[in-house]
Order: sequence, then structure tokens, then C-alpha cells
Amino acid sequence: MPATHATPLRLYVNVDHVATLRQARRGAEPDPVAAARWCEDAGADGITAHLREDRRHMQDADIEQLARTVRTVFNLEMANTAEMVALALRLRPHQVTLVPERREEVTTEGGLDLERDPDGLASSIGKLRGAGIRVSLFIDPAPRAVAASHALGAHAIELHTGTYAHHPGEGPALQALRDAARTGAAAGLAVHAGHGLTVDNVGPVAAIPEVEELNIGHHLVSRAIESGLAAAVREMRRAMDAARGR
Ligand code: PXP
Repeated sequence: MPATHATPLRLYVNVDHVATLRQARRGAEPDPVAAARWCEDAGADGITAHLREDRRHMQDADIEQLARTVRTVFNLEMANTAEMVALALRLRPHQVTLVPERREEVTTEGGLDLERDPDGLASSIGKLRGAGIRVSLFIDPAPRAVAASHALGAHAIELHTGTYAHHPGEGPALQALRDAARTGAAAGLAVHAGHGLTVDNVGPVAAIPEVEELNIGHHLVSRAIESGLAAAVREMRRAMDAARGR
């Protein structure tokens, strides 16, 4: 029997990789803003997008449009830089998730280092909170990072599930997520999680009772291609046949 939990579990869809595909041609399709609407129509509780310093997928205009058009909750992922904080203060997304960013990385490879510049982080968190924006910190599921997030004044932590995604099932990676979720919730932090989650590995993370939000991107875009490519081919065949009067 499935477990019942007091905390509802929200699904926020990360639409970055819709933009990755568009940027391969620097064209107009596929449009991540339209994709956000389809996700909401399909029941997503929120939309997540990461504006990276190198603008490799989402562009400034996408973020502006998402901030205006998302009807559920817009979660802006960003590095803690003066440029991004100013953007967030102007656009006022519902939530900001602060993430580490390195230009050469393929994706966000680890949680924030909260001990490197705590004053800078606390100052940004204070500004964002002051503007009524909910602040989440993307961290590794480690006791020190949970304690530091609380001390810095975040509303929420997002636990990096990347290690678990590489070593799914019962084991130390899952246990670290459970422990961090329990400690975070006990400290009054909302607990989110994400990175590398798939239909096959999401179960044990979704079952952690303190987790209230999952951020999932790559797998959903990948599954959309797997399940949608056949229909796209049929549509093209019909258009070609129609041109030949068939
Ligand atoms: N959460 C954060 C903070 C991320 O940086 C990412 C990747 O952009 C995700 C969740 C989603 O990860 P994935 O695309 O692997 O589902």
C-alpha cells in the first residue's frame, strides 16, 4: 500500500532543456515559454528555469516572459551574483533557488558552498526575502549544509539528488537525503529535492515525508522526445503526402 504523507508533494518542471534544443539552431522552436504552459496544463505545480551566466539555454527574454506568464509558481534558479539578484528583485519570481555555477560544468554538479562567502549569501537572501521572494538553497544532503542554510535565513533547502541518481535504491545516498530532510524540516526549513530524477528512481525520494517539492527537467524533456517523435514523423508524412495529392 502506498504511504500517506501529511505534506503534499509538488512537481516543478524545469524547462531549461527545451531552450537547449532551440539554442542548437538559435531559432524560435521549441519555445520554453509555450512548454511551460503545456506543463501547467498537464498538472505541474510550478515552473523552474535557470538563467546561466553563459546563457547556454534560457535567454533573458525567456525569463522575462516566464515571470509574466507562469500561472502556477515560477522558481528562478540562479547564481548568487549582483546581476542575478538585481534581475530577481526586478522580476519578483515567487521563488529563487540559489545554485552554484561554474562555466565549464555540463550541469549543476554539486550543492552550494555555504562557507565560502556567507556574508554575501546572507546579504542576497536578505534582499530577496525583503522583496517577498521565497529563497531556497541548493545544497548537498550534508548536516553542515543544512545547519548553515538555516543560519543564513533561507526559507527552504533543495537537496541535490545527483549522487542518489547515480546510485539509486537503498544505500548511503538515499539515507543521506532522508537524514538531511528530517534535520532540515526539524529546523523549520521547507525541503525540496532534485537533479537526475527519473520515473524509475523518483519513488524513494518522493516517499521521504518531509520533501514537499521536486524539481525535474532533463528526464521529462527526454521522455517527451521518446513518446512524441513517432507522432511528429506521422504528421510530417501526412504533410508530404498531402502535397502529392495523396
Ligand atoms: N534542481 C536544480 C537546482 C538544478 O540545477 C537542476 C538542473 O538544472 C535540477 C533541479 C533538475 O535536474 P534534472 O534536469 O537532472 O532533472
